[in-house]
Amino acid sequence: MDPQSMCASSAATACASTTSRRSFLLRSVAVGAAGTGLLAMPATAATLADPSVSSGDVAILRLLSALEIIEADLWQQYNELGGIQDHEVPGGSGNKPYTEALQVLDEEMDQYIHDNTDDEYSHFRFLNAYLAASGADPVDLDKFRTLPSSKATGAAQVGRLTNLMQLTVDTTWWTRYRAARKNPDFGDTFPPAIPDLAKGQFPAIPRSDDDLAPDKHLQAIANTAGFHFGTIEQGGTSIYMQLAQRVRNPEVLRVLLSIGPTEAMHFQIWHDTAGNAPPLTDPTNGLTFPDLNAKPFGGERYETSLIMPEPTSFLTRQLPACSVVRPTETRGAAMAAVSSLVASNLFAGQSESFFSFMRDLARSADAA
Ligand SMILES: [Fe+2]
Ligand SMILES: [Fe+2]
Repeated sequence: MDPQSMCASSAATACASTTSRRSFLLRSVAVGAAGTGLLAMPATAATLADPSVSSGDVAILRLLSALEIIEADLWQQYNELGGIQDHEVPGGSGNKPYTEALQVLDEEMDQYIHDNTDDEYSHFRFLNAYLAASGADPVDLDKFRTLPSSKATGAAQVGRLTNLMQLTVDTTWWTRYRAARKNPDFGDTFPPAIPDLAKGQFPAIPRSDDDLAPDKHLQAIANTAGFHFGTIEQGGTSIYMQLAQRVRNPEVLRVLLSIGPTEAMHFQIWHDTAGNAPPLTDPTNGLTFPDLNAKPFGGERYETSLIMPEPTSFLTRQLPACSVVRPTETRGAAMAAVSSLVASNLFAGQSESFFSFMRDLARSADAA
């Protein structure tokens, strides 16, 4: 809804006073954030709800905040072992063999992992603070931080929300973004780039130092991570586009339209780097990374240099092909996002109360 029609739907004076009250509120939050930290949010944040942020907008923001907390949790684990540990992303101490195996995909992998992790923290901290500033409840998943950490050198020993040690990774985004006619929004389906990753359960981080050898086993773990990065960030790209279509407040729309493309920036990097994953078979479990540039792969569907989105059918097959994010269908998008994370085994070991909490958030967002 545009600002005019929002104001037309209520008294103009009420709209104006809402805006100034909201500005005041955001200013007080900013002061709180600069001073004693976001937890010292002024009490007014909880009491001065902005009525122009509808309950549907709140539901969408809360689902996104939860997804960002989950992203931060998984990226944190990658950073502790394979990224750069510094004051921006503290917690781990690095695992040299794993870091080097990741760097086979790109020399700068440790930097990219660090920056992606830093971004995810900023996303959920902002969304939670924004929710609070709008008089809504921020999302707190701390009680679900129950899953074990990797025992490999470099990982902190703390409770986790996500499990990166037995993933089933959907790599169909690889062929989906190369398809010239097909779009998942029409129900089209796509073959995975790495068929084995869709069939079994594989670690994307070393579970212990026993996973650091033999070389091809460790490289298979790094390759799995390299594809998982793309899987996560293409999902992030779509969910912001999907939910943006349902928000009502122009400022909430601005929030979604400003965060969403950073997920796409991440995705583009991971799409490029995954193509450098060396073809190999893990001698310990048979997991095979095929040569995507050779038969029976290769060509338009698989070639590793084709990382820009191929123009495809969009909205209707009658219109000309267009280079777009896909999927962007909004109906049921929140539940689909949560379901695909669950299907990837990312939450292996989580309690039933965690799954029902996430499903409730998705259901509310989809009802917005
Ligand atoms: Fe994010
Ligand atoms: Fe992300």
